[in-house]
Amino acid sequence: MMIQSISINEKTLTIDWQSGSDSTFHYIWLRDNCQSPKSLHPNGQRLLQTVDIPADIHPSSVQVIKEQSLEIVWADGHQSSYSADWLYNHVYDMPLSGSNNEMQIQLWNCSVDINSLTFDYPEIISKERTLYDWLVAFCQYGVAFLKNVPTQLGAVENIVDQFGYIHETNFGRISDVKIVTNATNLTYTNDYLSPHTDNPYRDPAPTLMLLHCLSSDVEGGDSIIVDGFQVAEKLRQKNPKYFKLLASIPVNFCFSDPNVEISAEKTIIQVNWRDELTAVCFHNESLQPLRMDAELMGSFYDAYRTFFEMIMDVNNQVQFKLQPGQVYMVDNRRVLHGRTAFFNTDKRHLQGCYAGIDGLYSKLAVLKRHIIGT
Ligand code: FE2
Repeated sequence: MMIQSISINEKTLTIDWQSGSDSTFHYIWLRDNCQSPKSLHPNGQRLLQTVDIPADIHPSSVQVIKEQSLEIVWADGHQSSYSADWLYNHVYDMPLSGSNNEMQIQLWNCSVDINSLTFDYPEIISKERTLYDWLVAFCQYGVAFLKNVPTQLGAVENIVDQFGYIHETNFGRISDVKIVTNATNLTYTNDYLSPHTDNPYRDPAPTLMLLHCLSSDVEGGDSIIVDGFQVAEKLRQKNPKYFKLLASIPVNFCFSDPNVEISAEKTIIQVNWRDELTAVCFHNESLQPLRMDAELMGSFYDAYRTFFEMIMDVNNQVQFKLQPGQVYMVDNRRVLHGRTAFFNTDKRHLQGCYAGIDGLYSKLAVLKRHIIGT
């Protein structure tokens, strides 16, 4: 990008780009983002303490060099240089550029084709490109599958090793999902589990959940997944008042057994300052008696029931039987999972674990450097 001209204002300067658009930058922002070695370590970390910049910082001279860089001498004598490309890429009053378009969220319902989200495990181990494609698909859909995973105990941990780190909890590094006597958690029974996100009673809750099937010669025991973001967006359209109630009134989730007692308060729907969804926390089994102003309780239950009905609507669910050697991974902040009841109880054995999505995002960014070169 080339600089056509600049105009100096009281607290800002405006660049007219050769493309015809213009961008304004505050002096404080320019000084704070100085690219000189005094301000920025070669490792990219900031050396400059923002608090040390005079509040009334302004330039004593500004020059454009060959339409390609902006050179500023500040009133305190410090000199800064910015390339036109750097400035253009950091225009701050625009939405982030489309560099992450491949991670754009794709909402889905019962018609999603899970075969297109299923990748071959030996291939993701041996080919960076396949691992990259699997992680991209995961970021778009909040769920992805693997086939041909060895049916060995602990294999699920090797999958996490490909992209990140286990999130260990009181259930262990990995946990065996099979029947136990006197289970303190419904997961370890043969009962039906309605779609839920895991461990909302934890803060932070695990962001990734993986389930690996070792054996499943049973009647029933089908997995169910639901795109919580799709359902929440539908609720926002259908009844904004209900959406707002679930996004603003916190509820309490709790888990306890003889050794632990964990609880956390959070809203069932979570949004950021732009009102974009950031998480859905839904776990009917661990929801504690609701507490709120009495005049809100009736409406809150209406909202909760409506959201729950939408989660249970088969048009929003995908049901499948996980076969030995298959794995599915969900974004536990977005995709709910559950299972149907099952029988012949000793013949179903899954292993599950939690992991952190920060490691996954990091792996994806580094793979992108290798594969796409950005
Ligand atoms: Fe679960």
